[in-house]
Amino acid sequence: MSVAAGAVATTPRVLPFYRAIPRLMKDPVTELAKIATEAGGQVVQLGLGPFRPYLVTHPDHVQRVLKTDWTKFVREGMFWRPLRRVTGQSILGEGEGWESSRKILQPLFTARYTASLGEDMADIIADSISELDEHARTGRLVDGGYQMTTIVNQAVIKVLFGGRISRDIAERLAPEFATCATSIAFRLLFPFVSYSIKVPGDRAFLAAAQKIDEIVYPLIDQARAEKSTRNEVVSALIEARMAQGGEAGARQVRDDLVSIYGAASETTAMSLTWLWSVLHDHPDVHARLLEEIDEVVGEGPVRPAHVPKLVYLRRVLQELLRVYPSAWIIPRQAVADTDIGGVRIKAGSQVLVSPYATHRLADFWDRPLEFDPERWATENTERRHRYSFIPFGAGPHVCLGQHLFYVEAPLVIANLLRRYRVELTNPQRLTPVPGASVRPKEKLMLKLVPRARD
Ligand code: HEM
Repeated sequence: MSVAAGAVATTPRVLPFYRAIPRLMKDPVTELAKIATEAGGQVVQLGLGPFRPYLVTHPDHVQRVLKTDWTKFVREGMFWRPLRRVTGQSILGEGEGWESSRKILQPLFTARYTASLGEDMADIIADSISELDEHARTGRLVDGGYQMTTIVNQAVIKVLFGGRISRDIAERLAPEFATCATSIAFRLLFPFVSYSIKVPGDRAFLAAAQKIDEIVYPLIDQARAEKSTRNEVVSALIEARMAQGGEAGARQVRDDLVSIYGAASETTAMSLTWLWSVLHDHPDVHARLLEEIDEVVGEGPVRPAHVPKLVYLRRVLQELLRVYPSAWIIPRQAVADTDIGGVRIKAGSQVLVSPYATHRLADFWDRPLEFDPERWATENTERRHRYSFIPFGAGPHVCLGQHLFYVEAPLVIANLLRRYRVELTNPQRLTPVPGASVRPKEKLMLKLVPRARD
């Protein structure tokens, strides 16, 4: 049943504790989307004991929280606190600290600037993918999630540090971030548990955060000593923060670098991981992608100039971000008493915007559970509610890396599919597991078969 966004209802629907907990313990991501669907997009309060967040999914309500009234819904509180232990005061924060980071970083992530990084990124991606030839030759299977993470990390590290970071160091950094992203899950799911109580994942999280510092600080010191103004993010940050000097300046640079890395790599890698299951389930989509890539790229290496011509691939990516948005929730805290869609929200309440749930609302999406790239054909997109598709968030905090994603992801996919026939060897129903990004619980084991014409 559909409910108009502004319907008057002073008390929210409440999902009581005894019903919420069993549902959310088992498969929280899927259940959250079902709860939103059952409520027809109305605000639902989740009775999770001491913690009673509001689930906000109607696109009009999403617009209020993320854009129109964004200063009333801030990135503080239970969900952000665990992340702050590694991201510090940064672009992923709020207030003046966030604003100054955004001002420095925004020019580095425009479509134009991102395109200028494309050539380097294409080389890095092609190099890391060519290393898979060994697997293709021997028939040794590849763990899809691990491989996507490795390829994406190398590309992201290049954008952040340029030539300043050796491959060896990059390879040491990547697993520490992966540990942070997965070991934080308990804290995200049970944010009301005090930090004086140790929970699963805490020890691994803190050890990984410490190792990240041990790697990143020396890189900052080295870049500072060189004082050159190169293209990469670390140089831009150092130049902007130089005035602060000393420890405080280095800390600021570190916080932003670590935050961007965290925001950029896990999200992209997990999106790419889901793809292999989707292509297995939709051989027609797979075949059409191959056809387009062969036509556009031909025999040669994949270059950034090919990306705008890979029109069908872009549709597949948009649909992938609709069905499996790696940023599955976007949490906020209300700073003052307010209301959303007529539902009263008290100051200090947690508000959960959920792209995963909004993308499955039948009032805004025809056959929402079906993977159909054709819904992104220009003629089919015109009448869509702008806030019904929010994989990158919206408003002042909207993702800085969207353009980068739409260059990087096509480069990875086109490179892989041009080189290999990718077969999923263990197809099964995947369970979305929440962490910093939503990832499949099951491993996706891929067989790479060299394409005949290579
Ligand atoms: C599939 C890929 C990605 C997804 C799904 C994604 C999703 C998001 C979302 C939902 C937000 C909004 C957070 C909020 O409102 O609290 C966000 C913010 C952000 N993203 Fe992404 N992101 C992706 C890739 C990237 C990449 C490649 C980069 C960087 C190079 C990046 C950098 C950032 C940064 C810095 C922010 C914070 C912006 C701010 O608050 O001002 N993201 N991202």
